[in-house]
Amino acid sequence: MSETTPFQVQVCKDGSSTVFSEVFQQCYHNPNGALTESLYVFFEKGGVLETLKQKGDISILEIGFGTGLNAWILGDILNGKVSDGNARFYSVEAFPLDIETALACGYSKVIRYPNLPGITRNIFEKLQTPGMHNFELTPRFSVHVFAGLFKDMPQPPEVPNVIFFDAFSPEKNSDLWGTDVFKRLADWSNDQTLLTTYCASSPARANMVEAGWYIEKVPGVLGKREITLAALNPDSLPEQGKTVNRERLLERRKNGEI
Ligand SMILES: C[S@@+](CC[C@H](N)C(=O)[O-])C[C@H]1O[C@@H](n2cnc3c(N)ncnc32)[C@H](O)[C@@H]1O
Repeated sequence: MSETTPFQVQVCKDGSSTVFSEVFQQCYHNPNGALTESLYVFFEKGGVLETLKQKGDISILEIGFGTGLNAWILGDILNGKVSDGNARFYSVEAFPLDIETALACGYSKVIRYPNLPGITRNIFEKLQTPGMHNFELTPRFSVHVFAGLFKDMPQPPEVPNVIFFDAFSPEKNSDLWGTDVFKRLADWSNDQTLLTTYCASSPARANMVEAGWYIEKVPGVLGKREITLAALNPDSLPEQGKTVNRERLLERRKNGEI
């Protein structure tokens, strides 16, 4: 690995890897478990398996491709015959990992996807060039990554069933947590779209609300108390009883309480 890389691979407590970014001064995942966190926050709480079961088809939009872990997990689900549905995975990455770091994550140790190192190399090689990159990994599974800033990402050609909102924390990556970002995502979504994120920050939730999203608090994982689900239609949230009071949240922000 190049000595000048701003990325360092770390092994998490669950045996999967994550990366520490020198630039953002943060890990790409919870250091207690990259794989455990992704499976819970995005796949379980995002209802990926249910959607695949009910519709036989899913479209996912991810904010922050990072190591590609979520794409590989989805590939594993489709490949491992957990579902024989179709999936398109759209993502965006402004600061792609170098190929050596992406390979050093070694996700083929925890994910059964044929030729994962070869696919990782191919995808990260292409991501070094800005613009849209499309990968038809199988006839049932494609990955589409825009190498560039989210603000420059073209609208995906279809409405996502689920949005994996996986930016760094609002403190470190504030450009991705503004009302403008959640408004843009709302414009690309419909009443059934579910947005899921590991983040439970009240100011970030207030920005979501301001952009038209309804919020549900969900118990967290790996020592995190809470995560957040959001939808444009509150009926699309799994447990409407735990919906955050939107007026109160905006009021608290207006009063400087959050
Ligand atoms: C927490 S990491 C994503 C982790 C990833 N989903 C994974 O499983 O490895 C956040 C990612 O967002 C990227 N990012 C930060 N700001 C961005 C922006 N404005 N537009 C696009 N990508 C951005 C970072 O480079 C980083 O890869």
